Amino acid sequence: MRRTRNSRSARLRFAALATALALGAALGACSPGAPSAPSPGTSGDEADPQDGAASPAPLPSGELVSASPDDLRLGVAVAGGGHHLETGLGSGTALADETYASLVAENFTSLSPENQLKWEWLRPERETFDFAAADELVAFAQEHGLAVRGHTLFWHSQNPAWLTSGELDDDELREVLREHVETVVGRYAGQIEQWDVANEIFEDQARLRTRDNPFLGRFGVEIVADVFRWAHEADPEALLFLNDYAIESIGPKSDAYFELVQELLADGVPVHGMGFQGHLSMKYPKPGDMRENLERFAELGLEVAVTEADVRMAVEDGVASPEDLAAQAGYYEVMLDACLEVDSCRSFTVWGLSDAFSWVPFFFAGEGAATLLDEEYRVKPAYVALVDRLATGR
Ligand code: XIL
Repeated sequence: MRRTRNSRSARLRFAALATALALGAALGACSPGAPSAPSPGTSGDEADPQDGAASPAPLPSGELVSASPDDLRLGVAVAGGGHHLETGLGSGTALADETYASLVAENFTSLSPENQLKWEWLRPERETFDFAAADELVAFAQEHGLAVRGHTLFWHSQNPAWLTSGELDDDELREVLREHVETVVGRYAGQIEQWDVANEIFEDQARLRTRDNPFLGRFGVEIVADVFRWAHEADPEALLFLNDYAIESIGPKSDAYFELVQELLADGVPVHGMGFQGHLSMKYPKPGDMRENLERFAELGLEVAVTEADVRMAVEDGVASPEDLAAQAGYYEVMLDACLEVDSCRSFTVWGLSDAFSWVPFFFAGEGAATLLDEEYRVKPAYVALVDRLATGR
């Protein structure tokens, strides 16, 4: 039973707005009234972020991939859903645009659905699953030989109201979670290489997110082990990750994961990897100890991955200064270096192909320019730095 497109999309818009508010608060956005993202692909009379600089080059096809070591997946989040419901993209994904699709296919070896595997997308109703959009992304990846990172099965955000309203009793809630994990992971068994099984389960002060994660609040941390076990049964080949932001450096929050993951491993829970989102802001220093941090997780026998890299900066009317764009390269380099220097970091994903599709201006008032390419797919200094760094290898 499917809803009409209109009612579904109206509800998703509402959910996206709620998510914007929740995420904005969680990630420290200045105000919930963040400005809308720019319309994808429109630059027209808008100010050009590169004004005054030498004319930037368009993305040279295949350069990133040919520079990369063979054992590193280079990933990109494919735009669609979430905040894009509020911007020019509507309810589809950016792959509908031929230029976008070929840039993804030619320049990356992995993709992450930005929103289409989240509960609000897959489970608008309790009784049904809507796999259409996720299926399209997975089919695109297969057609072009890209791996898929699945994101995500267990999160406090972008959940449908029927799940979070409290109307399910403990048994029902646990059962619905088990069914969800088994159905979704089972459907894509053999097609999704890595799953962000549990996303953002600690708050910024390293407290378990029992207040806003509907499952942690009810069942405590033990449910995380169950989710990993269910996922593993549904696809024994998939690599199963914990994933979070603000854990790039060694500190209370990454320490909390370091302790938790050791407990899970000691209990025989099939957790295989630690994902470091890499949503950095130039307001803060670079994570200078990221390599050491990744290394300590790797030493536990885990894979590590950079799963959602972007680097936001202050912008005025959407425009970043050339100095800031140059400095941004150093932030991306720190993340890529950390990954290249740790053998079991085999996946580095950027959260958005270009600034036209970035979530940043939508969630962080006054910040933007966070991706490797400007709105016209022209490369920024950060892109050039990554190609150079990739070419020097591990
Ligand atoms: C973001 C998407 O990019 C937006 O389109 C959506 O509106 C909200 O979520 N951490 C995560 C991602 O794990 O799922 C988030 O993605 C960004 C922060």
